[in-house]
Amino acid sequence: MVSEHAETESGPAADSTAQVLVASNRGPVSYTLDEDGTLDAKRGGGGLVSGLSAVDDKLWVCAALGDGDREAVRRGVGEPGVRMLDIDAEVHADAYNGIANSVLWFVHHLLYQTPVEPVFDAEFRRQWASYETYNRAFAEALAEEAGPGAAVLVQDYHLALVPGMLRELRPDLRIGHFSHTPWAPVDYFRLLPDDIAEQLLRGILGADRAAFLTRRWADAFIGCCTEILGGTGRTRIGVHGLGADADFLRRRAHEADVDERMAALREQVGEGRRTIVRVDRTELSKNIVRGLHAYRALLETRPEWRERVVHIAFAYPSRQDLAVYRDYTAAVQTLATEINGEFGTESWTPVVLHVKDDFARSLAAYRLADVALVNPIRDGMNLVAKEVPVVSDHGCALVLSREAGAHEELGEDAIVVNPYDVTGTAEALHEALTMSGDERSGRTKRLAEAATALPPQRWFLDQLEALRQG
Ligand code: F6P
Repeated sequence: MVSEHAETESGPAADSTAQVLVASNRGPVSYTLDEDGTLDAKRGGGGLVSGLSAVDDKLWVCAALGDGDREAVRRGVGEPGVRMLDIDAEVHADAYNGIANSVLWFVHHLLYQTPVEPVFDAEFRRQWASYETYNRAFAEALAEEAGPGAAVLVQDYHLALVPGMLRELRPDLRIGHFSHTPWAPVDYFRLLPDDIAEQLLRGILGADRAAFLTRRWADAFIGCCTEILGGTGRTRIGVHGLGADADFLRRRAHEADVDERMAALREQVGEGRRTIVRVDRTELSKNIVRGLHAYRALLETRPEWRERVVHIAFAYPSRQDLAVYRDYTAAVQTLATEINGEFGTESWTPVVLHVKDDFARSLAAYRLADVALVNPIRDGMNLVAKEVPVVSDHGCALVLSREAGAHEELGEDAIVVNPYDVTGTAEALHEALTMSGDERSGRTKRLAEAATALPPQRWFLDQLEALRQG
């Protein structure tokens, strides 16, 4: 529930007439409350931030996510061009943790253990009502802020009902919806109760244009609409494959803090050893546990790699409010410790695992990687797969899951794996480690070209243009 505007929201006044609006759960800035009562602002990056920087008369509507954000809203602290909605904390938790991350994320990434879950009971219906309330808060804020005929770009599964709700409030607007996740195949999507499945599809079809990261996810959405609703109606479907930001990455990857971290990592790896690098949020869909099993299988079946390779695994905290994510994080740590116990020697640590987020260290790992392991169960795109070839110092072989969106553009020059096939992934790691230098640099060059075909700003502006044209 959105409380009184004057007291609880930051950003422009209610008579604002923004011409381009973005709506997303997580905004471009977040606040933490220090012990002395000061608020620290942390600004994020990414495609939307870079895209929006190229347009005027804009507004970003997002949710207050934590205590720091809520305090910022209460104090009227905010960034120009950002309106943070102070949605009731329990409503937000039900919508974000309960529905978006525990149901919709699971459906689109095929994460359920179906013999025991999902269970759509009264508790689910209660949380669903919160999801509706949260979506309505966004629709109302957007309706209030948008200038006549403005373009509104609604992001992701958190806000699937917003386009339909907003269309009713403001039929004059151009509304787009963008899915950053995969879309579930129809048989899996139909795990959802029929009325909920219908409501979600109709919500997105309230947009003039629904867009996806790959053709595959767009086709899956069309498939669901066709089977459940008989078609996509007047909504146009688009595909925009977000690419890596080469200029930013190449510049940032050569700053002093990255060099420092490279030196530290080299020390941990040890002289003359190969590296297999992975960088992920500790996210169920990223398949980190099977990645570690594959590495263990490599050390078992190809003992010649013992002492000669190190697996650098960065698994950064994510969604720690959910027990299943906390358990998964623990499983990753346990397995890394087991592998080190089983194979490690006094001078060799087979797995170097870091769980504290550090962007400079990630770039350092990208630069020195011999092999990058990107093996998600399913992923909307996976930008790590696109970033490593751009930043790599000496060329890097990419082991890539066929279920990552990035596979559509990078599949030809990657070593492609079935993410469930641990033996196959271990063999792919061996192939990657033994790839000749020439082949590796040739492939890395082509991967980097494909990865940067649609830089973030162009990605955003293309969507905006396509929305305005229709
Ligand atoms: O892939 C969908 C997405 O919402 C991304 O846009 C984002 O990077 C990721 O999930 C993380 O989500 P959260 O906001 O829950 O940390």
